[in-house]
Amino acid sequence: MIRINNQDEYQHYYTQALNEPNEFWSEVASSFTWRKPWTSVSTGDFENLDIKWFNGAELNITENCLDRHLKTQPHKTAIIFEPNNPDSATRTFTYKELHTEVCRAANMLKQQNVKKGDVVCFYMSMIPELLIGVLACARIGAVHSVVFGGFSSKALSDRINDCKAKVLITNDSGFRGTKEVLLKNICDKALETSPSISTVIIKKHSGSPVNLKSNRDFWWDELTNKITSSDCLPEVMQAEDPLFILYTSGSTGKPKGLLHTTAGYMVFAQYSFENVFQMKSDNDIFWCTADIGWITGHSYITYGPLLAGVTQVMFEGVPNWPDAGRFWQTIDKHKVTHFYTAPTAIRALEACDINLVKKQNLSSLKVLGSVGEPINVEAWDWYNKNVGHKNCPIVDTWWQTETGGIMISPLAGITNTIPCFAMSPLPGVQLKLMDAQGQVVEENGVEGNLVITAPWPSIARTIYGDHNRYKDVYFSDYKGTYFTGDGAKRDDNGFYRIIGRVDDVMNVSGHRIGTAEVEDALNQHPQVVESAVVGYPHNIKGQGIYAYIICLNKCEGEALKTELLDTVTQQIGAFAKPDKIQVVSGLPKTRSGKIMRRILRKVANNDTSDLGDTSTLLNPEIVEEVMKRNTL
Ligand code: WT7
Repeated sequence: MIRINNQDEYQHYYTQALNEPNEFWSEVASSFTWRKPWTSVSTGDFENLDIKWFNGAELNITENCLDRHLKTQPHKTAIIFEPNNPDSATRTFTYKELHTEVCRAANMLKQQNVKKGDVVCFYMSMIPELLIGVLACARIGAVHSVVFGGFSSKALSDRINDCKAKVLITNDSGFRGTKEVLLKNICDKALETSPSISTVIIKKHSGSPVNLKSNRDFWWDELTNKITSSDCLPEVMQAEDPLFILYTSGSTGKPKGLLHTTAGYMVFAQYSFENVFQMKSDNDIFWCTADIGWITGHSYITYGPLLAGVTQVMFEGVPNWPDAGRFWQTIDKHKVTHFYTAPTAIRALEACDINLVKKQNLSSLKVLGSVGEPINVEAWDWYNKNVGHKNCPIVDTWWQTETGGIMISPLAGITNTIPCFAMSPLPGVQLKLMDAQGQVVEENGVEGNLVITAPWPSIARTIYGDHNRYKDVYFSDYKGTYFTGDGAKRDDNGFYRIIGRVDDVMNVSGHRIGTAEVEDALNQHPQVVESAVVGYPHNIKGQGIYAYIICLNKCEGEALKTELLDTVTQQIGAFAKPDKIQVVSGLPKTRSGKIMRRILRKVANNDTSDLGDTSTLLNPEIVEEVMKRNTL
C-alpha cells in the first residue's frame, strides 16, 4: 500500500503514478493477499475499451476484508450497528465474528445452489445482514446487485430482469424513522414480472407478517441455523471476474447496470479510503451515512473500511428521527472520529434547531467528509463551524458509480482545502477539462467539461449486457477519454471545483435521477400526452424536479397532481417525485421536433430575463404560456 503522509509525498506519488504507473500500482497492490500474482498491472485503453487491471492475478476480496485481519486483530470491532430506534440495542461484530457470519451466509447461499457467476439481488434496509449477504456473495464468487430499498416494485423488477438475478435477498420490512417499508411485499409484487428469481431469502427484522410462497421463499435465520460450518473457503477469483452490478441513471434510456470487477476495484477502494480519510489511530471510528444501495455504501461501507481493517458505524435510521440531532448524538455515542455524509443532509439539519448540534460534544471528530453533490458555501461553513468546530479538515470527495472510488478530493490533514473545492485528483487519476469544441483547455482559471484521460483500477468495465452503450455514453463525446458528465472549474492554482452535471441527469438530495426516467414515468399516466422534466436549484435538495406536462383533456388541480406523483412513486420510487408540475398546452420545440430544454430550465429556475435565441422555435407563442409558471 502507499500511504501519503504529506504534501511533498502527494507531489512525488502523483508524478510517479503519471510517469511510472506500473511501479506505482504494483506498490499499492503489494500489501493485499493474492493467491497468484498478476502478470500485467494494466492493459487496455479508452480506444479498445478492453480494460484489465492486475490481470492474471487470483484472489478473493473477502479474504482481504476479513481473513487477512484475523491474524493481527481478530477481536477488533469491525461493525457497530446503530439501529433506527436509538433505544434498541446496538449490535457489534468483531472481525472474527463478521468472518463467521459471512462464512455461514456463504455456505447457506451454496446450499441454495448459488454458484460462481450467478447474480444475487438485494433489496434490503440498512441492517447488518445486507453487508453480510453482499460479502457472502463475494466469498463464493456470486455477483451482487443491490437495489436501494427506496425503489418501487417496478424499478426492482426491471433491474432483476436486466441482470437476470437468480436469488433475491430481502427483509420482512425496514424502518426509516417512524416509517415502515414493507420490503417483502414490494418484492412479491416485483416478482410477478421477474421470472428469473427462483429463490427468495428473507431476514426477519421487524417481525411484521409476510406471505411466504412455498418452494420459493425461505427465512434467512432458518437456513443459516441449519449451517453447521462457520468456515467457508473463499472462491478463488480471477482479477477481472465480476464483483458486482450496480444500477445508475443516465441522461437517456433506462438505468445502466455498471459492472465492477474484482482486483482493481479492491485495490482502489482501500487505496482511496486510506489516503483520503487518513485514519491513523487504532481507536479511530469511521461513519459513512450512505445506504449500501448506492456506490458510496459499496466502496466506503462494505469494502473500503473492512479492507483497511478499521472500525465503523453502520446506521439503519434517518437523520431527523427521533429528532434532527440524531447524527450528532450518534457521533457522541460511538465516539466517531471520521464522519462522511452528503450535503443534502447537512442542509436539512442546518435548517433545524441549532441547539440540537450545539448540545452535543462532538469532540471525538477529526475529519469530515462530503459526497454526492456540490456543497454550497453556507453548508460548508456550517459543517465546518458547528460540526467540526473549525478543527476538522473537510474532504469534499468527487466521484461516481462508474469510477468505483474517490477520484478528486483533499487528503485529510495532508493537502489543503478550499471551501466547496474537491481540490486535486488522487495520484493515479488524470484529469482534463474540455471546451464545447472538444478541445482540451490547458490554462487555469477556466470552466470546462471534466474528463479522465487514462484508465484507473476501479473504473466500471462495462454496462452489463450492453458494451456498445458503455462505449457510446462515456467514450464517444471526447474520443479516447472518459467523459464524466460533470462540469468543473479549475482555479488559478489548478484546484478543481465541481459545478455539477452538464447532461440531462439530475441530482436530487444526492440521488441521481435521469430526466428521461421521470418523463417515462409521467407518460404512463393516461392523461399525459407528453412531458418534459428539468432540474432546478432547491435550497435543501440541491436540485428539485420540475415537470411540464401536456394533458389529453383540460385537467388541473390537486387530484391530478396526486395521481401523477403516485405514478412516479410506482414507476421509480418516492424520491423521484416532481416538486413542481406545470400543465402546458405545448412544449417549446425546434423545427426538428426537439424540446428546447434550455428554455424550460430557465423558466424552472425563475430566470427568464434572457431566454437566448428563440427564433428557431417552431412554436414561439408557447413560451409566454410556459413563463407563467402556473404549477399545480
Ligand atoms: C454524480 C455521481 C460518488 C458517490 C455518490 C454519487 C455528483 C458526486 C460530488 C462532489 C459535486 C458530486 C456528480 C457526479 N457528485 N460527488 N463531491 N461534488 N458533485 O454517485 O450517484 O454515481 O452520482 O454525483 O455530478 O457525476 P452517483
